[in-house]
Amino acid sequence: MMRCPRSLDEVDLFAPGAQEYWYEAYDILHDQAPVHRLHGEGFLPGTDAFVLSKHADIAQVVRDEEAFPPLTSVLVRQLVEADGDPFDSPRVNVMVASMASLRPNPELWRAHRQELTDPWVGPGSSRNEDMIRRTACELIDGWIDEGRVEWVSQFAQPLPQMVMANVLGWPLADIELLKYFGDGCVKPFVYGSGPRSVLPENEVKSQFEVLEEFRLYTHELIVERRKAPRDDMISFLTRVEYSPLGRRLTDGEINGVVYAMVIGGLETTQYALAEQVELLIERDGIWAALQEDRSRLRSFIEEGMRLRAPTQGLSTRMTSRDVAFQGVPVPKGSVLHLRWAAANMDPEEWECPHELRLDRKAGSRHLSFSQGPRVCPGAHLSRLEQMVAWNEVLDRVAGFDYDDGNDFLHQPGIMLGTLKLNLRFARV
Ligand code: HEM
Repeated sequence: MMRCPRSLDEVDLFAPGAQEYWYEAYDILHDQAPVHRLHGEGFLPGTDAFVLSKHADIAQVVRDEEAFPPLTSVLVRQLVEADGDPFDSPRVNVMVASMASLRPNPELWRAHRQELTDPWVGPGSSRNEDMIRRTACELIDGWIDEGRVEWVSQFAQPLPQMVMANVLGWPLADIELLKYFGDGCVKPFVYGSGPRSVLPENEVKSQFEVLEEFRLYTHELIVERRKAPRDDMISFLTRVEYSPLGRRLTDGEINGVVYAMVIGGLETTQYALAEQVELLIERDGIWAALQEDRSRLRSFIEEGMRLRAPTQGLSTRMTSRDVAFQGVPVPKGSVLHLRWAAANMDPEEWECPHELRLDRKAGSRHLSFSQGPRVCPGAHLSRLEQMVAWNEVLDRVAGFDYDDGNDFLHQPGIMLGTLKLNLRFARV
């Protein structure tokens, strides 16, 4: 197992146990290797991966799709050129298959967002506010009289699960199944190894079995909603006419959109809420400041997202030509591992980056949701969930403290996922 790195040669962000020392590693990377080469970790034999940790470099990459194409776009281009039915391609999940018709280029990517997801999880997500509040209150009701709560399983995890289920129109009775499918989707990001999150062959097989179950379950749901539409995202997707194609979506395409919502919309917000409660316990004065003035909640959430990015890094871009970052040459065909969490700690971008400052100027320029044309499409929904959740908790809890039985360990992979948090509290 990894121990806390003290020098660059001890930094390995992907080693078992590395997740306990990521922030110490980022300080070393900023100081000594802001562009860190990982030999032989590219996608093609003989190519390398580069870990980028500077805010300016990552912001440049995500804004320029031509120079730094997203890996999914490269895959989708290959699917389109192969000229078969992408839904029949082995080892291509429904989300990627649906991209071949719904968003094969930047223009349709924008339309996909504006017409299909924005009304539900983007700017239109305010329609979900009452539902989120009801859900948060029900969860709080479940533990407020106990004086103790296991924060992850009793709040941070079920809240985004139930919210996503309600948004989609997923039966709440099958919430465990949603979690099971969600776990199947993110498996490479938890159990995969190296910067490309590679699963061992036997795990790939079992992952695809779960994804097939997910596809079949969702298909049934789509068929039901076509027959009897309700006020939910799946029903909407069965009826909306998608303007670039001038037609309604097929079942497979809807399935692909649902997959994207499930892979993106569950754990991420869970981890944000878990990290934020730790910050509230550990950073003096923040809880009291929020109790006194709720208008500071927005800044707290942005600082929380900056200080503890739920998705720490993703290898989502390639170089389409030779480039240089910080004077380090990066050849064409390299994989770029964008370390959002390190960019959020870049001392050239942030004054005293490790401090939680409620008065930080333009704190939302952190990269936890990325930026540019591919910025997380669910950022609005997640921010709303966090706002509503903390408002409700602050109304009813006078303050949290750690209870016995915490080891503060995180799950492996590339997400910052605290596994368990026993807390005690007094009521307001
Ligand atoms: C704290 C919560 C969240 C974080 C930290 C987060 C972070 C990210 C990041 C870093 C990306 C990659 C963007 C890029 O490659 O440039 C992304 C993409 C994505 N996120 Fe999120 N996300 C969160 C919540 C959500 C939610 C609630 C949803 C769905 C409702 C969602 C759906 C997606 C999808 C579908 C993508 C892929 C891009 C696309 O298909 O358009 N995310 N997210």
